[in-house]
Amino acid sequence: MAGPSFRGQAVRVQVPATSANLGPGFDALGLALGLYDEIAVRVAESGLSVDVSGEAADEVRRDERHLVVSTMRKAFDALGGQPRGLEVRCLNRIPHGRGLGSSSAAIVAGIVAARALILGGEESMDDAAALELATRIEGHPDNVAACLLGGATIAWMDGDRASATRFEPASSLTPVVFVPHTSLKTKKARRLLPESVPHADASFNAGRAALLVEALSRRTDLLFAATEDRLHQGYRAEAMPRSAALIEALRADGIAAVVSGAGPSILALPSPAAAEDLLARAPRGWRAWRLPVDLDGAQASALRL
Ligand code: HSE
Repeated sequence: MAGPSFRGQAVRVQVPATSANLGPGFDALGLALGLYDEIAVRVAESGLSVDVSGEAADEVRRDERHLVVSTMRKAFDALGGQPRGLEVRCLNRIPHGRGLGSSSAAIVAGIVAARALILGGEESMDDAAALELATRIEGHPDNVAACLLGGATIAWMDGDRASATRFEPASSLTPVVFVPHTSLKTKKARRLLPESVPHADASFNAGRAALLVEALSRRTDLLFAATEDRLHQGYRAEAMPRSAALIEALRADGIAAVVSGAGPSILALPSPAAAEDLLARAPRGWRAWRLPVDLDGAQASALRL
């Protein structure tokens, strides 16, 4: 069978950072943030070249094991075949290992780039199929859903099958992220979770997660109550004591603050009036950014290299 037809032109893909969980929505809720990794990819005559700059550029491989490349290979397989050669350039802006969705961004970028390099690729692999592949690679659907679709997302699993739906976040949402200099592997953070939780905690989180969808979309005045969680943050606090302490201090002042994803970064959702002053609450050595919500998710466009 003939393989797919590849575009001669290079493709540029932009993918947003994401914050998952948002407190009670463990492995389900996600929010896309206006901080972007960019990649430029092109089919080449032969071989593989990988160029990386920006965040964690010194720490990542320049070979088939680079996450964008290994993901592109899986997506090409799913789309019918590999190109002769591949050139990949990455500009990283999303900090690695901080709970801001850098691995999901690399995975979504790889999938969106691979399908954009193939004529008819978007028809062969729609967003639902892209989300399934991305979730299989990442292991949980919440970051990849928000990264792919933008805005606020609810993801769910049906057996091995991931699905997601996007909803429009309130225009007054004002995310502030606090990024420590230390990292934490999601795998390690997941190992800290118990096998089972008390029914009362599960019921508490179900109510708060439902409330959070309303708070994020229409009733931002409810964000403080809606971001309470009993399923993961408490169990993981020992792995990120400074993050836990800052969240406690911010919440004591009435600010809706949560662990971003598996941490150790913090996402705060203050009122727009309080956002600028909040940046000063970053501990020494931490970075603090006020970021817009990304509404568009992953974007691919043609590029001349
Ligand atoms: N829901 C995942 C977790 C997000 O908390 O483990 C990881 O970014």
